[in-house]
Amino acid sequence: MPSLLEATGITKEFPGTLALDNVHLELRPGEIHAVMGENGAGKSTLMKILSGVHQPDAGEILLEGKRVSFSTPREALTMGISIVHQELSVVPALTVAENIYPGRLPINPLGMVRYGKLFSDAGEVLTSLDMNVDPREPLGNLSIANQQLVEIAKALSSKCKVLILDEPTSALTEREVEILFTLLRKLAANGVGILYISHKLDEVFKLTNRITVLRDGKYINTVDTAATTPDDVVRMMVGRPLEALYPPKASEIGEALLQVRDLRLSAQAPANSFTLHRGEVLGIAGLIGSGRTELARAIFGADRKVGGEVILHGQSLSIHSPIDGIRYGIGYLPEDRKAAGLFLSMAIKLNMEAANLKEVVSGGFVNGGKERALAEKYVSQLDISTPNIDQEVRRLSGGNQQKTLVAKWLAIQPKVLIVDEPTRGVDVGAKSEIHHLLRLLTTQGVGVIMISSELPEVLGMSDRILVMHEGSIAGEVRASEATEEGIIRIASGQQIIPQ
Ligand SMILES: Nc1ncnc2c1ncn2[C@@H]1O[C@H](COP(=O)(O)OP(=O)(O)OP(=O)(O)O)[C@@H](O)[C@H]1O
Ligand SMILES: [Mg+2]
Repeated sequence: MPSLLEATGITKEFPGTLALDNVHLELRPGEIHAVMGENGAGKSTLMKILSGVHQPDAGEILLEGKRVSFSTPREALTMGISIVHQELSVVPALTVAENIYPGRLPINPLGMVRYGKLFSDAGEVLTSLDMNVDPREPLGNLSIANQQLVEIAKALSSKCKVLILDEPTSALTEREVEILFTLLRKLAANGVGILYISHKLDEVFKLTNRITVLRDGKYINTVDTAATTPDDVVRMMVGRPLEALYPPKASEIGEALLQVRDLRLSAQAPANSFTLHRGEVLGIAGLIGSGRTELARAIFGADRKVGGEVILHGQSLSIHSPIDGIRYGIGYLPEDRKAAGLFLSMAIKLNMEAANLKEVVSGGFVNGGKERALAEKYVSQLDISTPNIDQEVRRLSGGNQQKTLVAKWLAIQPKVLIVDEPTRGVDVGAKSEIHHLLRLLTTQGVGVIMISSELPEVLGMSDRILVMHEGSIAGEVRASEATEEGIIRIASGQQIIPQ
């Protein structure tokens, strides 16, 4: 079969990092082709080169047999290459429709934007994604999941030959993922070639025809999905077989550590009460929008709570802001690392100490040695791939940004650590490192509350699981008795277990 897109000998160097080293990739028309590799393997860099964001230092790109080069994303788009970036690039203040057609707004002969056409065109694209969203709505009002779908709608709005999706499902629910997959299969059936980047092996095996694996910026292999296994792919990605996926659970749970009593997320919502014990991982499952994040933020002090009490070691706490939360030893790793978690244009070391300045400041001055020691400890413990600790966080790969965020909260040496989607966008190896690290904390007596939309992660990590539905805790299950189906039933309101 002739190639639709072929990249050969692609090399790209950033200061201190050889991101791609003589990489090869071939995409056929009508094919869904996964690109896999650990965090920092070079996947996003390769996709940015194919879509005109970066220029390669060496190598060539053939599109339908003809040599092409793009000096801007616009040029790539004109030639039929569309990309959905890993990090959201939407503009919250503009309407949904304006975000779908940035720089391509329909204009009348007088140079005025034809809003009627804009909104109806946008409406059509949204409908194809089964999205029930008003194109006139400011984008910032939408949930992260819907913002991500708008990002996908943006890529679909131009007729493309090659569609690149860089971890498009990290914020989507299972239903939304299904809708997306149906759409991608339809596009592929019409001859579009799709490059699909994901760390989720189940998705890749469900969706794709072939898989190309990168490791440390090098091309490893391209295989037919049907002729390989997840284990083989993991081995190609990490260069070794992976040990047991989840660390062993707590053999013994300690005394009550954190008690939450009658906490309401709004005046009308039912009250939530639960207890977290020393040495325990308490999982919180539930659909997107079920109140998991709101509950966590209320405990930590990031949001106001309506009544209720938070008790630590038997002492009632007065928490009005995250500073109070941190002072009492409660850490909260937010789900959105870009908006709420990290200072992207600041160095790794500054991000790691941001929640814990007292550790590195003495006599009013930052102690450079302590600062360096703290950052270097976590870079090595979490195996963060970076040339040095002075690197700006935005220059790290997505997964390594997530690890930096984890380090920031480990640095406060919390008594209670609440983690919200702690392994989003993190590769299989690093995911397992973060899991082992959370478990290590519990063996030191820390209580961990883990919110996750990935049911296997909830089941694999938790000692006990709370399931939320519409703003309150609808059930509690012991991990040893929990099943995915059981949790989904409670999460979708089909079964209420009274507390
Ligand atoms: N703009 C940049 N400046 C400097 N280094 C960069 C830049 N972009 C990427 N890198 C580096 O290039 C390497 C490859 O990064 P890339 O983002 O392509 O990885 P990835 O495979 O997409 O990882 P992830 O799964 O974490 O998203 C990393 O070491 C990263 O730190
Ligand atoms: Mg990436």
